[in-house]
Amino acid sequence: MTAHTSADTYSLTGKVVLVTGASRGIGAAVARRFGACGAKVAVAYRSGAAAAEAVVKDIAGTGTEAMSVAGDIAKADDAKAMVAKVVERFGRIDVLVNCAGVAEYRPFEKSDLDLFRSTFDTNVFGTVAMIQAALPHLPSPGGRIINFSSALATRPIPTASIYAASKGAVTSLSHALAKEFGPRGITVNTIAPGVIETEMTTKILKERGDGIKAMTPLGRIGQPDDVAGVAVFLASPDAGWLTGRTFIVDGGVS
Ligand SMILES: NC(=O)c1ccc[n+]([C@@H]2O[C@H](COP(=O)([O-])OP(=O)(O)OC[C@H]3O[C@@H](n4cnc5c(N)ncnc54)[C@H](OP(=O)(O)O)[C@@H]3O)[C@@H](O)[C@H]2O)c1
Repeated sequence: MTAHTSADTYSLTGKVVLVTGASRGIGAAVARRFGACGAKVAVAYRSGAAAAEAVVKDIAGTGTEAMSVAGDIAKADDAKAMVAKVVERFGRIDVLVNCAGVAEYRPFEKSDLDLFRSTFDTNVFGTVAMIQAALPHLPSPGGRIINFSSALATRPIPTASIYAASKGAVTSLSHALAKEFGPRGITVNTIAPGVIETEMTTKILKERGDGIKAMTPLGRIGQPDDVAGVAVFLASPDAGWLTGRTFIVDGGVS
């Protein structure tokens, strides 16, 4: 992973950023990158306590503050409790990054309602619950919400129907909320990654990694750090006139 320091990226000193799904994968890279920009970072996770603490330690080692906060975003009470802990410690939340997500690829006939509900519970309801909990604390104007969709929302593949539909819902939700929160000066943007090498994609990369690399104009498999800088940009002063947009971050595949 490329190491980024506050010297070669935006300065977000004084900002408080809550990143869900930050115990590993893309969320961990996003949290570390915000830390490198000087922001105070809340590393939210569900079950990976040791992994989350490692991210907190890395960020704290760069001279800013970080905390971990555990909860299941699919439960509204957990979402509220996580936000409350962050506000108690840091006094505010400037940027909410909804990165937590789940993906399970299954043929449609084998995709029962349990899979549909569990996927939507985390990917869609979890995003809604976190936004509802954080919204009263976001500065108005100035608050930033960054949601995670997927390139599969607009360029789906077989066996990903339910995941793709959940991410399509996140994209629509973000677009609609950008209109609703715009008058308050709060931006809402979406990052839609292509295949990024994380635990979520271990199986797919094992099966089809060479093919995915071959169809990627930039000629390699995307890494979490390839996405992290886009999130930081969307939280930066330079992105203040951007809202309601979905950024496909896929090395040129689409
Ligand atoms: N990797 C890709 O190729 C790719 C492509 C397009 C979009 N995305 C999206 O990008 C985001 C990050 O993906 P990733 O590859 O980094 O995933 P990942 O490595 O599987 O990590 C998922 C993270 O989400 C957390 N999480 C899952 N369900 C949760 C819940 N109900 N409540 C709270 N936390 C929960 C996990 O926490 P614990 O481990 O602590 O339980 C973990 O930190 C996801 O929204 C994903 O859909 C990824």
